[in-house]
Amino acid sequence: MSILKIVTVPDPVLKSVAYEVAQVDEAIRKQIDDMLETMYDAPGIGLAANQVGILNRVLVMDLESRDLESRNVDNRRPIHMVNPEIIWSSEEWSVMEEGCLSIPEQFAEVERPALVRVKYWDYNGQEQELEAADLLSHCVQHEIDHLNGLRFVDHLSSLKRNMMIRKVEKLTKQQEVL
Ligand code: NI
Repeated sequence: MSILKIVTVPDPVLKSVAYEVAQVDEAIRKQIDDMLETMYDAPGIGLAANQVGILNRVLVMDLESRDLESRNVDNRRPIHMVNPEIIWSSEEWSVMEEGCLSIPEQFAEVERPALVRVKYWDYNGQEQELEAADLLSHCVQHEIDHLNGLRFVDHLSSLKRNMMIRKVEKLTKQQEVL
């Protein structure tokens, strides 16, 4: 397994729509494994393929990942999704603070449907459904947004969005100098 480079804003790959996966084969499983390693290493609770510069509809999540104990493989609860699709969302809304590995150190409240039901293919290519609430609901909607070329800052005012993107650009340039 290898750790991949995480792309940050304003990279255009984060504004691109990812392509459907034809089938879950060894190459896709290797990509899933690498994305998970990258997410645990960051650490983050979700990662979409666009964020590692790959334009296919693959995402990984693990809400336990924020906990240092997730370095212990037994404590990991990874979710792998290929071609995820929201098939139902609640009328009720939820507001939660979100961040993103592609927009480091920036956080903002985002409003989304409180509950969603998602249809997807799992690691073995089997069709699955997941009903998500609370943090998992925000996380899966955030990651599916990535596959559609949307970043969480696209839910904010252009003023806030541009401010955050400029901060990340500045941060990235400083890191390149060091
Ligand atoms: Ni993100």
